Amino acid sequence: MDWIVLTKLLIILISYLPQGDSGPGLIDVENGQSFQYFGCYYDSKNIKSFSIGDFTQVPDPIGSCAKAVQADGHRMFFLKNGGHCLSVQGKVEQFFQVKKSSRCVNGLGGNGLMDVYVFSNVTVSCPVGIRRFLNPYCLRLMKKEINDSKRAYQLVPTFLNLFPGLNATSGQLVKIYQKEPINARWMGIYTAITPRNYLIATKFLNKTNGKEFETVDDYKAVLKFMIESQYSVIPKEQHKYFQLYFMQPDKPFGRLTRLCNWREDRIFTDQRFAGINPMSIQRISGSKAKAGVQWSSLQTKLSDTFNWEAATVDALGMQTTLAEAINRGHVFVLHYPVLDGIPSRNETPSTVKNRKLMSAVSPIAVFVSKPSRDKNQSNKIIPVAIQMGHTKDSPVFTPKDGDQWLLAKQTVQVADFVYAGSVEHLLKTHLLIEPICVAVRRHFHKLHPLRQILQFHCRGVLGTNRFFIKTLTGIHGTSDRLFGVGYNGGYAIMKRAFKDLTWDDTDFPANIKKRGLDDKSKVPYFPYRDDGELIHTSIKNMLNEYVKLYYKHTCHVRFDPELQNFANEVSFEGKFKPDGGHGMYTELKYGNQYE
Ligand SMILES: *[C@@H]1O[C@H](CO)[C@@H](O)[C@H](O)[C@H]1NC(C)=O
Ligand SMILES: *[C@@H]1O[C@H](CO)[C@@H](O)[C@H](O)[C@H]1NC(C)=O
Ligand SMILES: *[C@@H]1O[C@H](CO)[C@@H](O)[C@H](O)[C@H]1NC(C)=O
Ligand SMILES: *[C@@H]1O[C@H](CO)[C@@H](O)[C@H](O)[C@H]1NC(C)=O
Ligand SMILES: *[C@@H]1O[C@H](CO)[C@@H](O)[C@H](O)[C@H]1NC(C)=O
Repeated sequence: MDWIVLTKLLIILISYLPQGDSGPGLIDVENGQSFQYFGCYYDSKNIKSFSIGDFTQVPDPIGSCAKAVQADGHRMFFLKNGGHCLSVQGKVEQFFQVKKSSRCVNGLGGNGLMDVYVFSNVTVSCPVGIRRFLNPYCLRLMKKEINDSKRAYQLVPTFLNLFPGLNATSGQLVKIYQKEPINARWMGIYTAITPRNYLIATKFLNKTNGKEFETVDDYKAVLKFMIESQYSVIPKEQHKYFQLYFMQPDKPFGRLTRLCNWREDRIFTDQRFAGINPMSIQRISGSKAKAGVQWSSLQTKLSDTFNWEAATVDALGMQTTLAEAINRGHVFVLHYPVLDGIPSRNETPSTVKNRKLMSAVSPIAVFVSKPSRDKNQSNKIIPVAIQMGHTKDSPVFTPKDGDQWLLAKQTVQVADFVYAGSVEHLLKTHLLIEPICVAVRRHFHKLHPLRQILQFHCRGVLGTNRFFIKTLTGIHGTSDRLFGVGYNGGYAIMKRAFKDLTWDDTDFPANIKKRGLDDKSKVPYFPYRDDGELIHTSIKNMLNEYVKLYYKHTCHVRFDPELQNFANEVSFEGKFKPDGGHGMYTELKYGNQYE
């Protein structure tokens, strides 16, 4: 064994093995209180203790000490020097400040060491910490808690059969949430707002008697009705959460929400970078580049009869070729490959009065980043053309096409909304996080530092995904009636997106790079990227500090069984029985268990 092997072995022994020993559990004493082993500690001046007697020679030193101490009504006691019995004044928690040892012998302490015991009728508040820093008493409690939660919370396939979810009905989940303060409060708010909104919507439909929306004023009217109805029931101090944004142009993104602007190309473009879906626009790249979409692959879908080169170069207003503009990062595309070929909702017979659905399509929009002749002005992104579908025979419209151009932009907005609602929102936020939140409950005990912080991230997640999910996303549900692709189409889109989804997709900076949107001179206005970067950095810094509070060394991470078991369960590649792989995240890296 060389020095390196020895140090490696020592690291393993010192960092992990002693923690595996949780000591004896509950011990019963005849005619007395039962008591539990608490832990082995170095003798400390800060512990106020009284000698009860020397029990080294009696047959059951620990039990005898317990009986003797209890007669005086103390909470705990300890033995040292192989059986010398002492009682302790004050709270059990004072021992969390004392240095732990692993060198006590036979539960009787040792030279300068205390083997501490606590009576069973005493409640102890264990500190937050990873397993290696918990004493045997707290470790026993935590192991029991994990054992119980692993049976209470099971990951099973859900009705959409994409990511797995919690095996619980709404009714069972309500009972779970009622016992948890943060989720109980969330549930209170949720169950107050949901029926209220439903009632307001019903009132509006009743009032307008199902009249079609025909003008901008019709849309204004529904928003106004909604907000005024909220104002009439919510306390005044909450009114700030319900505001008529389009009447306040000075608010952030005011120009996007000002209704008189919506037809402008500028607004259409800005919505790609500051709207509900900033995730689809990408740079078009040449054959060598790794970021964005390659022109050659996009070309297999683009119309051969439309002159893309002329339209792009004209829009750029530069002396260049399409190939050069692409190589220099000036050309962008907005498209939705998961929508390609998705059929529309079958509406025969018509289920919604007065409605005739247009066919669902998968449009492709091309943009350029146009430099200004004034070097002090930043580039402007402008739309070049919209192809009305993903097949070569689809018509292509440009800003010169008047009303047809407006219709083309609306077609993009509709596709964008369908994509954003089903993939970016439902699949990649609600459904993606559920297995994480279930695995957090299963593998991290309540005092684990990662449970402490993740429980806030998981607040309400299981409830939102359970309480009305079938009403919203099921067959004949809201999205079935709202989206042109209906339930079947929406489900097919999510299945496609789920197949391609990996853990890497949740990496914010990598996503911006992968789409080729990190060049700020080409894409100057991109609040999702720029605000996101600030938020991402703050979260990262905060979490780095938080993690370092509890994990001082890499080995603390590697030898944290709770963390490793969690990773084993959520990672698709997780192999260790019985939980490995259930969470289904592909590309979520995890080490070999405890390695
Ligand atoms: C525990 O029980 C013993 C006797 O059964 C009693 O003397 C003692 O006060 C109790 N301690 C607490 C904290 O309830
Ligand atoms: C976990 O709970 C089961 C069922 O109650 C029990 O049989 C088992 O011994 C427990 N395991 C631990 C480590 O507590
Ligand atoms: C899910 O819960 C149901 C009802 O409580 C139970 O019968 C079933 O065995 C559970 N399935 C799993 C995989 O835990
Ligand atoms: C709908 O309107 C009718 C008459 O205008 C009224 O009698 C009924 O109560 C209303 N229903 C709801 C749910 O508001
Ligand atoms: C560009 O900005 C610089 C520094 O602000 C200024 O000195 C210069 O006059 C500006 N040039 C033009 C053409 O506006």
